Amino acid sequence: MQMASRPSDRQSAVLISVAVGVVVAVITTATFYWIVELSGGEERREAARIAAAPYDPTSGIRLITNAEPNTPTDGRQPWLGTEAWTAGVQVGQEYIAQFPEPQNVEVLTGMSTAQIWGYMQQNVSGALGVGCQYCHDINNFAADTYPQKAAARNMLRLVNDLNAQFIVNLPNWRGNYVQCATCHNGQPINMEVVGDRFVGSTPPIPATVDPLDSQGDVIVDAAAKPEEIQEPLPLQNAVLYYVYNYQVWRPYSPDEPESGRGSLALTYEGGRTQEQVNINQGTMNYMAWSLGGGCTFCHNSRNFIDYELDAAGNLPNPEYGYNKLKAQRMLLMTTWLNANWEQYGAIPKTDVPDIGPAGFYQDQYYRRIEGEYYTVPGCYSCHAGRDIPKAAINQADIPEGDAGLLVFPPVLRGGT
Ligand code: HEC
Ligand code: HEC
Ligand code: HEC
Ligand code: HEC
Repeated sequence: MQMASRPSDRQSAVLISVAVGVVVAVITTATFYWIVELSGGEERREAARIAAAPYDPTSGIRLITNAEPNTPTDGRQPWLGTEAWTAGVQVGQEYIAQFPEPQNVEVLTGMSTAQIWGYMQQNVSGALGVGCQYCHDINNFAADTYPQKAAARNMLRLVNDLNAQFIVNLPNWRGNYVQCATCHNGQPINMEVVGDRFVGSTPPIPATVDPLDSQGDVIVDAAAKPEEIQEPLPLQNAVLYYVYNYQVWRPYSPDEPESGRGSLALTYEGGRTQEQVNINQGTMNYMAWSLGGGCTFCHNSRNFIDYELDAAGNLPNPEYGYNKLKAQRMLLMTTWLNANWEQYGAIPKTDVPDIGPAGFYQDQYYRRIEGEYYTVPGCYSCHAGRDIPKAAINQADIPEGDAGLLVFPPVLRGGT
């Protein structure tokens, strides 16, 4: 009996080598973390903390006050630096004393000049990282002197229309609104639309776009397609073509099994080639990377066709349940943005920066509309790797009454 409980030499050898293995593994891991720590673990933790922190509107104002003063050449006064910032805010205060009611507002109706002044600082200047002078001749805040103010006024309309038409009536809406900072995130121009991961990981292999006609039938004859997709496109462009030209023929209804299929469904009769599969997967990756999730964030991986409204038990988290349907509404939103972008008044670019793979930035990142180039928002513009955009404003953050007006004017909330 005693013999049996004593390990044989062979058993001892195994035990010892396992023990040594564990010790080596622990030391290796510890060393690895130690090296990671030495090579900037502190900064990384700080960066992660900032990335995870809720949106702070004053961070955009710090961008302005911390910047070196700029010297515009188009007649505007400098809009960066502490001096420019203080001047704008102070002259604004004098303007309030002179005109308690605003003189020239088309969108921000029902607000006092003081309320507009407060909103402009935090949620317009702060959102774009530019002082008042970017849009105003600060000697007269009511004047429409610069095209940037006209663009901003149209963007106020854009915010309200996005909230009204797409956001507040999302199925299972979680109470977040779009505001200027949701897209701008501290920059007036050149915001990121697609993200590095998409640019780096979607190969430029050719992909023939076979769109669907108004009946939902596949068009394979090149001559019958819109001009921009008659030739095969690099995969990245083909993906963005779908993001900006999405259609649903019969809106999803839980009672109708055939409903809800859109241009990205693969379950159509005929014409769905390997290239359509590549485009579908490129688009799925683009959406997943934009939101920082995987396929199961929107799908039950046993049934990619289903919309999973009642997801408990299927998807990793019951709150994921409506996500595929929300994503479909959002695809309709990016399509709407593309179709209406000119009217919402971004200032067209005549010179397009030469960055990124050939063709890609010109025709997709900067969309050509009537011979001019614009940056049109995509999923990444707002989401930037998060399921809920960082700088979306949540209704729970809006205090009641007067303070609520300052934080987010009711006229921008889409009529709610
Ligand atoms: C990105 C452009 C932009 C920036 C930056 C900006 N504003 Fe405005 N501002 C506007 C627009 C657009 C309107 C008109 C809104 C409307 O028509 O409803 C406006 C209106 C106003 C008005 C009301 C004027 C009136 O009597 O009609 C005041 C006051 C004002 N802004 C102050 C400021 C102050 C102070 C700053 C800087 C802290 C600032 N704005 C920064 C675009 C901007
Ligand atoms: C859906 C995304 C989105 C929202 C929301 C949005 N913008 Fe924009 N805005 C853009 C894009 C994209 C551009 C074009 C940038 C470029 O040309 O690189 C732009 C351009 C502008 C410009 C012109 C800048 C220039 O000098 O060319 C102004 C001014 C502006 N936005 C102000 C605003 C204000 C103020 C709000 C909130 C009321 C707002 N935007 C909300 C996406 C958005
Ligand atoms: C942000 C939400 C979202 C994510 C993430 C996502 N999808 Fe999708 N997926 C959709 C939507 C919306 C459709 C419906 C497209 C249509 O009908 O036009 C779809 C359709 C599909 C289809 C076609 C189903 C059919 O009806 O024929 C497949 C296959 C698919 N997705 C696979 C994936 C894979 C694989 C991943 C991970 C790489 C993924 N999806 C990630 C939203 C998402
Ligand atoms: C103009 C900004 C904007 C753009 C562009 C945008 N989204 Fe969103 N998205 C939002 C906001 C705001 C919410 C939060 C809505 C809520 O509270 O339910 C959201 C929520 C979602 C959700 C639900 C997330 C959750 O956890 O509840 C999905 C899925 C989604 N978006 C997918 C997409 C896809 C896919 C695209 C591109 C086709 C896209 N979005 C483009 C602003 C945007």
